[in-house]
Amino acid sequence: MLYKNKKLFIDKISANQIIKKFGTPAYCYSYAQLKENILNFKRNFKNIDPLICFAVKANNNIKILNEIGRFGLGADVVSKGELLASLKSKINPKKIVFSGVGKTYDEINFAIKKNILLINTESQSEIETILKIAKKIKRKVDIGIRLNPNVDAKTIKEITTGKTINKFGLKEKEVIDLINHYKKSKYLNIKCLSVHIGSQITNHIPYFKMLKSIQKIIDKSKFNFEYIDLGGGMGINYGENTQKLNYKKYSKKIEKFVKKNSIKIIFEPGRSIIGNAGYLLSKIIYIKKTGKINFIIIDAGMNDLMRPALYKAYHRIIPTNKNKSKVSKRHDFVGPICETTDKFLSIKSYQKLNEGDNIVICDVGAYGKVLSSNYNLRSNPKEILIKNLKVFEIRKKETLQSII
Ligand code: LLP
Repeated sequence: MLYKNKKLFIDKISANQIIKKFGTPAYCYSYAQLKENILNFKRNFKNIDPLICFAVKANNNIKILNEIGRFGLGADVVSKGELLASLKSKINPKKIVFSGVGKTYDEINFAIKKNILLINTESQSEIETILKIAKKIKRKVDIGIRLNPNVDAKTIKEITTGKTINKFGLKEKEVIDLINHYKKSKYLNIKCLSVHIGSQITNHIPYFKMLKSIQKIIDKSKFNFEYIDLGGGMGINYGENTQKLNYKKYSKKIEKFVKKNSIKIIFEPGRSIIGNAGYLLSKIIYIKKTGKINFIIIDAGMNDLMRPALYKAYHRIIPTNKNKSKVSKRHDFVGPICETTDKFLSIKSYQKLNEGDNIVICDVGAYGKVLSSNYNLRSNPKEILIKNLKVFEIRKKETLQSII
């Protein structure tokens, strides 16, 4: 993404041209950025040679999943829907792991039938459900057990998952008890110890603590796991938070861990793969000037992009036509939804804007479209992909007829 003669270009294509052809609001993805992220991720962990399972919850577009699968990545899914989407995208079932605290009988049954790599369990009741199905179909099922290491990921409190107060995983002692209880089972093959402590993590120290907790389980249980699934959570730079995750330190630490235990590592990254490869294209409908604030009312709402309303998440907003002016007054970029939280950004000053101008909300590739809703009975936006200088529509805008 860059400006040429003050006009915004995404992968060498004019943002204004894309908007003219495809309309707004629309999610637009850059294949070039996606590719760069995947190659970077692989490079960062090349000495570990992990299985990388993309967290489908971050972005479940079939075409995006298909592109990701072509780079040899697998998938981390949390529902039958995500599993179906991954299989439809031709992701190898033997590279799919199934996470989540509330998998139903039907979902587990389906996953077993599809021969996926692992079901990462999060409670004894879930293990018992798997056991019931395995006995019924007389098959041994490969499972993982998710550890809750009670580590503070030092991220947004709403997206931390590795503390005891969070619903995810099992405590150290519980994990060890379950291993001892099920390790000789005829129908269960405990293959993996999994963990995921949170998302948008920019500090390596919580990861170090997490590895320590895993080591404790391995030492205490003396159990030979084939895989250790370290989850995802690697943070990206949204432009406000300048701290960057130190991949070198994290990767070195894992390398040592792998050598010591001779196991295969699985990662489940979502945001770090697709986050900065997505843009939300939008148009200014009205500008409402009040005493203190210029309300920039755009045609995307919190139903299209929930992150700012849900987590007070920061996303840069940039104009497609840059100019040199500066209006020194607070600007609030808001949507059309009848909620005060329908606000994307509040900024002290901005360039001069006009009704009808196009703007772009950045870094929305992860947890953007997937969190959209029909609130205020608005249809979900379309998705488009720029690849090799061509622009494709990769999901149609929902029709009002289909949702009413
Ligand atoms: N594995 C598991 C078990 C997870 O629960 C998650 C994310 C991931 C992997 C991928 O994490 P990532 O690499 O993308 O950080 N809606 C929030 C984020 C929720 C993350 C939920 N779990 C947001 O918009 O920031």
